[in-house]
Amino acid sequence: MAASLESLRKVRDGGPPMATLTAYDYPTARLLDEAGVDLILVGDSLGMVVLGYEDTTHVTLAEMRHHTRAARRGVKRAILVGDLPYKTYETPKQAVDSANQLMEDGADAIKLEGGREIEAQVRALIADGIPVIGHLGMLPQSILEEGRYKKKGKSEDEAARLLDDARLLDQLGVKAMVLESMFKRVAREITAAVSVPTIGIGAGNGCDGQILVTHDLIGAFPWFCPPFAIPKVYVAESISQAVHAYVDEVRANHD
Ligand code: KIV
Repeated sequence: MAASLESLRKVRDGGPPMATLTAYDYPTARLLDEAGVDLILVGDSLGMVVLGYEDTTHVTLAEMRHHTRAARRGVKRAILVGDLPYKTYETPKQAVDSANQLMEDGADAIKLEGGREIEAQVRALIADGIPVIGHLGMLPQSILEEGRYKKKGKSEDEAARLLDDARLLDQLGVKAMVLESMFKRVAREITAAVSVPTIGIGAGNGCDGQILVTHDLIGAFPWFCPPFAIPKVYVAESISQAVHAYVDEVRANHD
């Protein structure tokens, strides 16, 4: 049975923490869905772990649409979330237009990065009937302004700002929020302060659920893995071994 967005609230009613992951293609999305993952995000991390871009700011809406459609074909049960890429939600109208395209491609909800600076966009999306997932903390799409990926919430001011942004997103009516790379006391405080589930990534275990980039979980992107993600298998090594074995076999067996 397909999960409804309302099922996100189960965790707030004493249900188990949510286990959530990213997928960008049919087989991965299907494997995750069949393994019982609660929510599958077609994240714009696509740009780095699949498309070979240096950061997520190069990802286009057309690329997100293509991969959202592929993932949709593999998901029967989990909630499927599409990510709005960089510069596709600069105005409320643009946010609604972009989000509607991902919804047409089969997303059940849309995620976008930011707090007070995107209040008008979040309001417009929700007014248009689009379910929204917020994203606070370290925001990968801000890499060009910030220059590096930095854990958030160290100073009291920064922690207070994150808490205010989380309260604002909650009041606006988001369905859940991702808390990325922030001090765990801040993620805990936000989780206690808001009415919707929080989904942490590098934010400690005090959130209502966790998300990881699947490539980090399965060791499929050996050139970089964030410190908080410990691979459970090393798929890249298996691929390398299989390819070496194949190359040797082909060269050895030529008549
Ligand atoms: O793009 C993505 O995969 C994400 C997750 C890291 C939360 O935003």
